[in-house]
Amino acid sequence: MPIKFTLRAADPTKESADVLSIFVWALGSAGGKKKKSEKTVLDAVDKALGGQLSKQIKKDEFKGKKDQVLSMPTFGKLKADRVTIYGLGEPGVISDGDLRTLGAKVGRAANGEKAKRITVGLPEGLESRLRFVVEGIELGAYRFTKYLTGDRKPKAELGQVTLTIEGKVSASHKAQVELGQSVAGGVCLARDLSNEPPNELYPESFAEAASKMAKAAGLNVKVLDYKEIVRRGMKLLQAVGMGSDRKPNLVHMSWTPPNPKKKIVFVGKGITFDTGGISIKPAAGMGEMKHDMSGAANVVGLMQAIAAIKPDVEVHGIYAAAENMPSGNAYRPGDIFTSLDGKTVEIVNTDAEGRLILADAMAYARELEPDLFVDNATLTGACVVALGNTCSGWYAATEEAATAFQSAIKASGENMWRLPLLEELRDQLKSDCADLKHTGDRWGGSITAALFLREFIGNAKNWIHCDVAGPAMADRSFAWNPKGGTGHGVITFVELVLDAHRGSSSPAPDA
Ligand code: BES
Ligand code: MN
Ligand code: ZN
Repeated sequence: MPIKFTLRAADPTKESADVLSIFVWALGSAGGKKKKSEKTVLDAVDKALGGQLSKQIKKDEFKGKKDQVLSMPTFGKLKADRVTIYGLGEPGVISDGDLRTLGAKVGRAANGEKAKRITVGLPEGLESRLRFVVEGIELGAYRFTKYLTGDRKPKAELGQVTLTIEGKVSASHKAQVELGQSVAGGVCLARDLSNEPPNELYPESFAEAASKMAKAAGLNVKVLDYKEIVRRGMKLLQAVGMGSDRKPNLVHMSWTPPNPKKKIVFVGKGITFDTGGISIKPAAGMGEMKHDMSGAANVVGLMQAIAAIKPDVEVHGIYAAAENMPSGNAYRPGDIFTSLDGKTVEIVNTDAEGRLILADAMAYARELEPDLFVDNATLTGACVVALGNTCSGWYAATEEAATAFQSAIKASGENMWRLPLLEELRDQLKSDCADLKHTGDRWGGSITAALFLREFIGNAKNWIHCDVAGPAMADRSFAWNPKGGTGHGVITFVELVLDAHRGSSSPAPDA
């Protein structure tokens, strides 16, 4: 259930809740002193607690520095059972990403306290950035509990968050809260889909979930089923799906406003389970490969957010889905298939299936003639080796696309690192008997995968490829990504669309 957020101009200490969280600027700093008001909030808490708060502040040497947290029970002396003070540091220093991280701490702490309702008291100066606090709380509180029963089922779920600000609540403040909910809702949907077990989520049921979302959100949606894939000649997608009883498909969702400023097309890899196929993977950790559709899940989550944000940008979300299984009917190393693009591909290793289904999905998507063409995929283990599992890799075909993407990353605060399309590695993809081999040799695996994909962008110049292997594979330490968290990249994609919407000067939607 999504969290209900309410924004009020109110005294947070008067609100009844399970936990009262108070954000404060550094005590005694320009912000902390000048804005006497939040000192009053702490004073009010201190008074209610009979001086216990100021004692604790002294003892902990709590100064409201960034990342400083002070928490204590209220023993029934306040309407909330527990009060937690979060330091923001000096005003003007804290970044949007920091605010999201702080929000995530509040969300996680709420789960730890088994809180159902919390109040978050914000000092003056954060009104224009409420979005990030909201996003953080919802992302931090995220858990995947659908399959837990009995004692394992969480006793409480955070359902209601009241944010209090000091001035008046304006329409733009409310819009900030809504935007935050839309973005976080998209990321959480991506996580839910990615966390589903592969016996429940396979191409057909995945398409049903995407269609359900699209219809509810008011998006157009088209599902190309297996017959249609065969009819169109998407032989690479067909080949990857051949070993499974679950047939592959392709899903195309779109948001098409009347006078769009730009057209952006996103493509995702939707391998609902990756055994490696005939080039089978080792048993250890294979279950993690249920997340191999995280790129596709990101596209679905993104489209839900886009439908809520309603930008003046035409946005298409496309993904190809298949299950990579070994069987008597599976594709093999040595096979040659003709792609939708027309190029022939010699199969080297059936575990490099992602680039194959993406190649056909990209050849399909490029017909939309996008201004910006972005694909994302849990494509290579090599990328995880290079960057670890809290950072995604990305590549750009043009500097224009790179500039746009870099600024979206800066706005999102997500960890994404640009990698080079090294032309000298392209030779690794030469085949004796087909136009292309689909994998290179041992070194530079993420780069050769990107170079392979580039063969399928056609005339779409401004192409970005994201190798989202790391975080999408359920990283456990990332602040906005608690246990079972995925969905890495969605916020950056939202920012990319918002940037295109703003163009040179027009304001953001709902903000
Ligand atoms: N889905 C995997 C990539 C992956 C593995 C991502 C582990 C995150 C964690 C992909 O389909 C794959 O198996 N790639 C191979 C390619 C190789 C055979 C050229 C890889 O990375 O080993
Ligand atoms: Mn694979
Ligand atoms: Zn894979």
